[in-house]
Amino acid sequence: MRFVYVMDPMDRVLPDKDTTFAFLRAAQTRGHESLHCELRDLFVKDGDVHARVRQLTVSDAPPHAVFGEPQVVRLADVEAVLIRKDPPFDTPYLYATLMLERVRGRTVIMNDPRGLRDANEKLYALHFAKYMPRTMVTSSEEQIFAFVKEVGGRGVIKPLDGAGGSGVMMLLPNDKNARAIIQTVTGEGSRLAMVQEFLPAVEKGDKRVLLLDGEVLGAINRIPRGDDFRSNIHVGGSVEPYVVTPEERAMIADMSPRLKKDGLVFVGLDVIGGKLTEVNVTSPTGIQQLSQHENRDVAVDVITWIERKSADFRPSLKSIPGV
Ligand SMILES: Nc1ncnc2c1ncn2[C@@H]1O[C@H](COP(=O)(O)OP(=O)(O)O)[C@@H](O)[C@H]1O
Ligand SMILES: [Mg+2]
Repeated sequence: MRFVYVMDPMDRVLPDKDTTFAFLRAAQTRGHESLHCELRDLFVKDGDVHARVRQLTVSDAPPHAVFGEPQVVRLADVEAVLIRKDPPFDTPYLYATLMLERVRGRTVIMNDPRGLRDANEKLYALHFAKYMPRTMVTSSEEQIFAFVKEVGGRGVIKPLDGAGGSGVMMLLPNDKNARAIIQTVTGEGSRLAMVQEFLPAVEKGDKRVLLLDGEVLGAINRIPRGDDFRSNIHVGGSVEPYVVTPEERAMIADMSPRLKKDGLVFVGLDVIGGKLTEVNVTSPTGIQQLSQHENRDVAVDVITWIERKSADFRPSLKSIPGV
């Protein structure tokens, strides 16, 4: 099969850490062809969306990525399109999701472009507000102050478009920097920010639960380093195995129909002390760390899911053994 990966340049990808690299490796092991492109390589001609791609071979040893010659493919002709571009969600990203609308229903797209557009990673969690810590979204400095007081004096403020812990800060009582922090995150009151009650359980870790088509694929726990409250791997959080609790399973079962309806197949939930803080959809990570703990390549589960799904679009493939 041919899979197109719409993603960042390969020199930004860490072979031993990044989930997209694990997908590339697993797909290659299963005999599929990987075609790499960036957002700017997508184009529409005569009403149909295409991409300028290069065949990509990956390897754990350097060189980690070897490219073939540039070629053009019509996206409806390949077996799957994996949208794995890291945030930010900017205008080029928005346009890419709008162009990719043209392939819905004609091949597998993971995740669905409309779902990606609808699901701001911070705001989408509000569909499941009953599982969240107390949360407010506002640009008003005074409202933020009042809210933090209301939730016990300690809060966390986050930009709506951040990732990897970037711009996430603690709001503490009597901190003479608090006003400056709020003004920085809200752009002097010109931008919305999310404010949450501070969850002390974060000390024990922020769980990353990976979901595939609404089902639990596995989970890891990310423990903050001693001198930070943020536990993102990106800012030095350490990873340990984690088993999803029955309460978390019940929450996921409740969330699953909505995720499926929105075409959000590969999703990473952030859960602190049983509370949902974020629903990562653009390019969730964690599968390599999960694989290490499970002693098997969990990325294979995602690739085999894509193989099975693509058979829905290519009935003839149903006769291939193992598909
Ligand atoms: N309500 C909260 N209470 C305590 N810590 C939090 C809270 N929300 C987030 N954090 C910490 O900040 C980190 C980043 O927050 P998150 O909302 O996941 O944004 P992102 O990962 O997109 O930067 C989390 O991994 C966690 O360690
Ligand atoms: Mg997060």
